[in-house]
Amino acid sequence: MNVFITGGSRGIGRAVVLKFVKEGWGCAFTYARDKEAAEETVKLASGLNEKADIRFYRLDVKEPERIESLADKVIEDYENIRAVVNNAAVVRNNAAVLMSNEEWEEVLTTNLSGPFYVIRSFLMHFVSNKAGRIINISSLAQDGCSGQVNYAASKAGLIGLTRTLAKEYGPKGITSNVVTVGYVPTRMTEENLAANLHEFWMKHCPLKRIGSAEDIANLVYYLCSDQGGFINGEVIRVSGGLTYAP
Ligand SMILES: NC(=O)c1ccc[n+]([C@@H]2O[C@H](COP(=O)([O-])OP(=O)(O)OC[C@H]3O[C@@H](n4cnc5c(N)ncnc54)[C@H](OP(=O)(O)O)[C@@H]3O)[C@@H](O)[C@H]2O)c1
Repeated sequence: MNVFITGGSRGIGRAVVLKFVKEGWGCAFTYARDKEAAEETVKLASGLNEKADIRFYRLDVKEPERIESLADKVIEDYENIRAVVNNAAVVRNNAAVLMSNEEWEEVLTTNLSGPFYVIRSFLMHFVSNKAGRIINISSLAQDGCSGQVNYAASKAGLIGLTRTLAKEYGPKGITSNVVTVGYVPTRMTEENLAANLHEFWMKHCPLKRIGSAEDIANLVYYLCSDQGGFINGEVIRVSGGLTYAP
């Protein structure tokens, strides 16, 4: 089995790559700018499974034509792709009243249009295989989060996208689900989130701990495995029971 993962060069995406490789899957992943980080992911993955078929490709998910040609290349390289994980995303925080068109558009294009372009590029392959798994990575911001009107709208949009695909392509043997992340320390959170987020999390999360990238990767893998085959159109939080963002 083979999987395609966007943004596997670091953070949660890297943990997803490592989980699939550990489970013996072939893994195609992308990076946008940080090639060294992508090479480090390959090094770590090869340490877990030296026979793993792992390859990385440069991709900006804002470029639909590039995604189409890359999907063709990945399908040619691997012959068969079973699952697509839309993990790559950005944040550009601002109060709604101050948010620029650029901040709005960059986040919506990367986080919502990007996953749509990726899915569309692999759908015919899944349809002809009569099998496929689509995972979209969201955030607790999907229900609203101060200072993140663009990010929250993009993640809420993924829910409508995913539930529609679940209905439209379920009959073709393709499942679509959202994995909603709580808080996992990564470059994204370090660079963009309030310094007191850790404190907020420890106070309000029922499990009294923050998440790990592996917590997310485990669910993504389960949903793509045979065991997850009857789960379709769901939005599943991995957040220790915390259900909202500040
Ligand atoms: N960390 C959290 O607490 C948290 C919470 C809620 C939701 N999430 C979600 O979890 C996912 C992963 O987040 P993370 O924290 O691991 O983020 P991260 O550390 O910032 O990693 C983001 C990844 O996305 C890639 N990327 C960025 N812009 C891209 C673009 N235009 N085209 C293609 N790839 C692009 C990056 O590639 P380069 O490094 O090569 O640029 C990198 O591999 C995201 O969907 C995020 O919204 C995270």
